[in-house]
Amino acid sequence: MTGELPRIGLGTYSDTNREQWIDCVEAALNAGYRHVDTAQVYENEEYVGRGIERADIDREDVFLATKTVHIDVPGPERSDIVGSVKESLEKLRTDYVDLLYVHWPAGCYDPETTLGTLDELREKGQIRNVGVSNFEPEQLDEAREILDAPLFANQVECHPYLQQEELREYAAEHDHWLVAYCPIARGEVFDDPVLGSISEVREATEAQIALAWLLSKENVAVVPRSTSEDHIRENLAARELELTEEEIARIDGIDREHRIIDRDYAPWN
Ligand SMILES: NC(=O)c1ccc[n+]([C@@H]2O[C@H](COP(=O)([O-])OP(=O)(O)OC[C@H]3O[C@@H](n4cnc5c(N)ncnc54)[C@H](OP(=O)(O)O)[C@@H]3O)[C@@H](O)[C@H]2O)c1
Repeated sequence: MTGELPRIGLGTYSDTNREQWIDCVEAALNAGYRHVDTAQVYENEEYVGRGIERADIDREDVFLATKTVHIDVPGPERSDIVGSVKESLEKLRTDYVDLLYVHWPAGCYDPETTLGTLDELREKGQIRNVGVSNFEPEQLDEAREILDAPLFANQVECHPYLQQEELREYAAEHDHWLVAYCPIARGEVFDDPVLGSISEVREATEAQIALAWLLSKENVAVVPRSTSEDHIRENLAARELELTEEEIARIDGIDREHRIIDRDYAPWN
């Protein structure tokens, strides 16, 4: 059975003004979020940790996810990964994370070493679950074969313009989460006529319609990013919006295999 995961989490990527995440994480948790998504390469774990500490909520009630192994960060050896996770825990002001993802199956990712180290960290209690990110079915097959831990999640780009049907089916079949990043396509959903017309009828924003569509799919969770308190609340409220079968089918029809994050080192290239 798929493990417990609050289906709407706060994404926290930004390459400027990282300190803002103290306030944003605090605001999100106080507004009702219970899942926060960061990564070592976002260089904001320290601020995310301070936000969690400042919020009016116990650490055990927050599902905290971070990511390691990104091109050549932290490095290919077991000791590099162990050291980087120790550093993450210090910055996040906690002694465990609920989920540690392999950020990319690229660069210093070595399946046996990387996944073996994650198994070891899980046995030590520093991480509660093991996930991967940006993995395609072949990498998922290999990872599941190597890991002792059950694979908890695959975090990939997923929104109405890149619907990831194959990876969603894979997630449902193998009982893990597909965590959708860029769930509102970095704002591109606001220009869409189908989402626009549904949003008018439902008196909800296009962002909420895109999130509700993702949440209508089996085994899918979402991590929209926002630095605006209004948007943070608005995105969480999408969990109350249930789309009709007809609305879901209309959105199913607007896939155009449009990828926003398309790296040279990505497995699909
Ligand atoms: N694993 C990976 O390789 C990977 C890659 C990319 C992203 N991620 C994760 O996924 C998270 C989300 O993806 P993302 O940040 O790329 O894109 P996103 O969540 O699709 O879009 C974020 C953008 O949408 C705006 N926005 C959010 N809610 C809104 C609303 N209700 N109304 C209007 N605008 C809204 C935000 O601006 P405001 O701040 O003004 O609200 C921001 O500019 C990241 O933060 C990160 O945690 C992971």
